Amino acid sequence: MSNPANRATNLIDENWDARVAAKYDRRVMELFKPYDALHSLVKLALSRTLPDRAKILVVGAGTGREIIHLGLDNPGWTFVGVDTSQDMLEIAKKNLAKAGLTSRADLIHGTIENAPNFQFDGATSILVFHFLKDGEDGSDSKSQFAFGLSKRVMPGGSLVVADLVGNLGESRFESEFELWETGVLAEAHNPESWAGLKSVREMVQWVSPEREVDIWHKAGFNMEGLLLKWLLLCCWNMTKI
Ligand SMILES: C[S@@+](CC[C@H](N)C(=O)[O-])C[C@H]1O[C@@H](n2cnc3c(N)ncnc32)[C@H](O)[C@@H]1O
Repeated sequence: MSNPANRATNLIDENWDARVAAKYDRRVMELFKPYDALHSLVKLALSRTLPDRAKILVVGAGTGREIIHLGLDNPGWTFVGVDTSQDMLEIAKKNLAKAGLTSRADLIHGTIENAPNFQFDGATSILVFHFLKDGEDGSDSKSQFAFGLSKRVMPGGSLVVADLVGNLGESRFESEFELWETGVLAEAHNPESWAGLKSVREMVQWVSPEREVDIWHKAGFNMEGLLLKWLLLCCWNMTKI
């Protein structure tokens, strides 16, 4: 049985269950100060490259944040959102309905492999990739995820990826993490957020920026640039070769 103390403080867990989902929209802003700026940048990057009638794959759609950011300003865009948590998708469904976007977004419960196998004009993976854990058989889930996206984005199409990267334990990593903790403690005024940050550190499957860039390159994406770097968070835009 899970420990009730953990249940009270552990805001992020691998299951993304109803308890975590209910608090997600508020807590993610406490942990990631540039969360809104990040989504605005994703929108700017995709708006520059995608046509008026683009079809976009959102992997790890969560509570629907990127579909709403992208969809409200781009009335011709339609979306497929995929997420492994039914509880997060339930909230996404409500958020999309409130935003008037239900008819333009299909939500699918599952992994990238459950997304339709046709070619999208663009795709996003925001705050998802860092959680991918290698299989017990040694399978490289980050590479599999990247190849899954590669199959589904058309040549010349755009991909924006944002996630946490860094070499756990190295002095630069530790000093950036400490800065992050100090900021959350000082500004969130909420012990739960600090506990959430601790669980992020444990849950993230850390890789170096070089390793991540290599994974995307091998999967067939050209790095166009680093849109944002905030402590350990990096956001890249890429083009499918
Ligand atoms: C931190 S949330 C990010 C949600 C949203 N992209 C955002 O920017 O707010 C991570 C989401 O990824 C989902 N997720 C985790 N592993 C996944 C996977 N392998 N495939 C699809 N979704 C996944 C979780 O269920 C959760 O909803």
